[in-house]
Amino acid sequence: MILAVKSNNSRIPVDTTGRKQPRKRLCCFRRQASTAQGGSVTTPGHQFASDNCAGICPEAWQALEAANSKTCGSYGTDSYSERATALLQDFFETSCQVFFVYNGTAANGLALSGICRGHHAIFCHPLSHIVVDECGIVELFTGGARLVEVGGKDCRIQPDSLRAAIGRRNDVHFHKPGAISLTQATEAGTVYTPGQVEELAGIARSRGLKVHMDGARFANAVAALGCTPKAISWQAGVQVLSLGGTKDGLPMGEAVVFFDDTLAAEFSYLRKRVGQLASKMRFLAAPWIGILEHGALLTHAAHANQMARRLADGLQAAGFTLAHPVEANGVFVLLPKVVEKGLKARGWNFHSFFDGGVSRLMCGWATTEADVDMVVADATSLAGEER
Ligand SMILES: Cc1ncc(COP(=O)(O)O)c(C=O)c1O
Repeated sequence: MILAVKSNNSRIPVDTTGRKQPRKRLCCFRRQASTAQGGSVTTPGHQFASDNCAGICPEAWQALEAANSKTCGSYGTDSYSERATALLQDFFETSCQVFFVYNGTAANGLALSGICRGHHAIFCHPLSHIVVDECGIVELFTGGARLVEVGGKDCRIQPDSLRAAIGRRNDVHFHKPGAISLTQATEAGTVYTPGQVEELAGIARSRGLKVHMDGARFANAVAALGCTPKAISWQAGVQVLSLGGTKDGLPMGEAVVFFDDTLAAEFSYLRKRVGQLASKMRFLAAPWIGILEHGALLTHAAHANQMARRLADGLQAAGFTLAHPVEANGVFVLLPKVVEKGLKARGWNFHSFFDGGVSRLMCGWATTEADVDMVVADATSLAGEER
């Protein structure tokens, strides 16, 4: 596998001598764009560090504003929370239970603590967000569950490896197999097809394990696959989903969605105990109305995916090699050091903390064709200078 985070610290860039580099600001920068003359002009920053870096999409913004116009009930007892829940039930075509939370880390920690206890093992990919980017929230919220890593190419868990991992230990001296957690779209920008989700969920459920999905980029996966949301969630065997909205235009806020009522029975207490029950819940809920009512969630996700496709095509045409197939909104590309450094010197923001010279460029709902064409042009000219 080419994509691999630094084992000592996945977030701190390390130079070729192993020295830690000062962290650059990821958001709200102003880039020095190159000009045809080779000089530079200051332009508002467009960047590829993360799909979190974009602002609030207009649909969510308008819905927030509308929710601000009068008083209403608190802690989720309001018409906005009710309407957003109903829209998510329509989205999934089932009467799922919906719990709004502030962010994705909490959604994952809570969702998994809703289905596992401290003596359980949770099987997940070694590069999954719950392993490398959530500072142990799953272990904390479950009271000690063990994350057991199961590999697979392009960040997709391999079915035989999952079978072997679940079967490896079933004695009282090791954590009891409790759940699997799949990330959709994956950390490598690939997606699981409905059949692949079904196969992995089937392996889990046939052995009594629960099925969780980290869907921080669930909408990107739906848009990429051209399937219905239900086809890669409950119909494929997912029982609880951490559904992302932030990366597709919400100001903040994700939703924990249970497709099995019995698993959700006491979840509202879990959410309250970890401080994720917002008193002014309408402001977490209303933006969901904005992005669901007329389909903006999937439109924005599809746009981000298209920008990633355009970027990947442009980079490949310029001779760069992709590290993973581009299936959603992330582009993982092998950039020679001189190109990577040159792009950063010209003000482009993206992550290069992966092993093997891999850089990640993420596209979001606000990425434009001009952003993409400009970074491709800069990469092409830097590569030309090297030759
Ligand atoms: C795959 C995945 N899961 C979950 C999250 C949610 O994290 P946060 O707590 O930063 O909203 C992210 C954010 O980058 C992510 O990429």
